Amino acid sequence: MMQAQFCGLDFGTSNSTVSISDGSSAALVPLEGAHQTLPSGVFWDSEGLPPVFGRAAIASYVGGEDGRLMRGIKSTLGSTLIDEKTKVGNKLVSFRTVLGAYLGHLKARLDAHVGSSVERVVIGRPVHFVDNDPAADARAQEVLAEIAREVGFRDIAFQFEPIAAALQYEQGVAREELVLIVDIGGGTSDFSILRVSPQRAKLADRSADILANDGIRLGGTDFDRVLSLAEVMPHLGFNTTTGKGRGIMPKHYYLDLATWHRINMLYTQRTLTDLKALRFEADEPVLIDRLAKVVRERHGHSLAMAVEAVKIALSDADHARLMLSVFTAGPNPMVSRERLDTALGASMERIRGALRSILSQAGLPPTAIGTVFMTGGSSGLPILRACVGQVLPGVPIATGDMLGSVGAGLALDAVRKFA
Ligand SMILES: Nc1ncnc2c1ncn2[C@@H]1O[C@H](COP(=O)(O)OP(=O)(O)OP(=O)(O)O)[C@@H](O)[C@H]1O
Ligand SMILES: [Mg+2]
Repeated sequence: MMQAQFCGLDFGTSNSTVSISDGSSAALVPLEGAHQTLPSGVFWDSEGLPPVFGRAAIASYVGGEDGRLMRGIKSTLGSTLIDEKTKVGNKLVSFRTVLGAYLGHLKARLDAHVGSSVERVVIGRPVHFVDNDPAADARAQEVLAEIAREVGFRDIAFQFEPIAAALQYEQGVAREELVLIVDIGGGTSDFSILRVSPQRAKLADRSADILANDGIRLGGTDFDRVLSLAEVMPHLGFNTTTGKGRGIMPKHYYLDLATWHRINMLYTQRTLTDLKALRFEADEPVLIDRLAKVVRERHGHSLAMAVEAVKIALSDADHARLMLSVFTAGPNPMVSRERLDTALGASMERIRGALRSILSQAGLPPTAIGTVFMTGGSSGLPILRACVGQVLPGVPIATGDMLGSVGAGLALDAVRKFA
C-alpha cells in the first residue's frame, strides 16, 4: 500500500470517491468491499439503528426495510433544505446530520485503509453549487467545510471538480495542449479550459494555466427528473384535469416525486389525506390511485431508479421499458432514445450554451482546443457527445474513468497544496 500523505475527497451528488497519493500518482480507496465508488445514499432505519451507506443503503430500501433512504443529498448544500429536518422513525434528522453521517463514513473507510487518522484533505466542489447566487454558493462551501471539520478533518482545502479532472487527465498527455474538461455528473455540469503538459504538471502554481472555469447546476438527476415528468408522471395523473376539465392536478406532488432529494417530503399523512380528497375531484381517479399507492408504500426511490435505469439503458439501446407496474399497478411503458432526447432538449440547449460561454470566457475559438476530455457518469449519454460535437466540430473527444477521474485528481492537487 502506498504511503498516504495526501488525500482527495470527491463528494458527488450520485457517487463519491476518496483518493490518496504518495506524491507521484494517485489511487482510489476501496469504499464498499472492493468498490472504489460509494453511491451517495444513506438509509436510516426506523428502529434507530446506525445508518447504512451506499449500495447497502439502496439494498435496505429495495428489500423493504422500514426506514428512510436519502439520495442526492449534495443537492441540499446551498439550499434552504440543508437545515430542514426529515422524519426518520420517531425522530427528526436534518440534512446536515445526514451529510455528516455520510462524510464521516467516508473518512472512517479512508482511515481504516491508511491505518491512521487522515487530517489533511482537498475536497472537490462544483464551480457553482448554486447558479447566480454568490452568497448561497459561498455558504454551501462553508457548510461543507464545517461538516468536514466535524467528522475529523483539520486542514481542508477546496478545488473545482473539473480542475481536478484536468490534473488527472494531464498524467497521460505527451505534449502541451489546451484541454476542455466537460464533467457532467449527477447534480452539476462543470467546464474548465486548461493548458496541460508533462512539464507544466510539475509546477506548484498552475493559476496561469487555467484559462476559464464555469458550471451550471444541471446534471443526471435533472435528466432523470425531466424523463420522469415526460414518461412516468402522466401515468400517475400529472397534467390530468379535475372537476370535469375545470382544474388540473397540482403539479408539486409530481415535481417532488421526480426529484431525487425531495422524494421523502411527500411521505406524510397530509399528502395521503389531500390525495384522497383530490381523487374525488379527479377526472381520471385511477391515475390518482396509482400516485397514492406510490406515496403510501414509499416507492418513490424505486420509481426514480427505474427511470435512471432506462436513461442509462438508452445510452446503448434504441428502446427500453420502464418497469413501473409493481409500484404503480399501472403499465410498464416503453421509451425510445428519441423520446429521451426530446425530453432532454432544453437541458441540451443549456449545455451547448455553457460550452459556447466557456470558450468565449477563455477568448478562444473551438479550433484552439486540442482535446475535449469528457468525464462524469452522464458523459455516457450519446446526445451529450453530440452537443460537444456541434459546438466543437472536429475536436477529438477523450474519456477516462468516468466516475474516478475527479477523485484521483483531487489527491494530485493535495500534493500540490500540502507538499
Ligand atoms: N451510461 C450512462 N448514460 C447516461 N447517464 C449515466 C450513465 N452512467 C451513469 N449515468 C448518470 O451519471 C450520473 C452520476 O455521475 P457521477 O457519478 O459522475 O456524478 P457525481 O459525481 O456523483 O455528481 P456531481 O459531480 O454532479 O456532484 C447519474 O445521474 C447517472 O444516472
Ligand atoms: Mg462529480
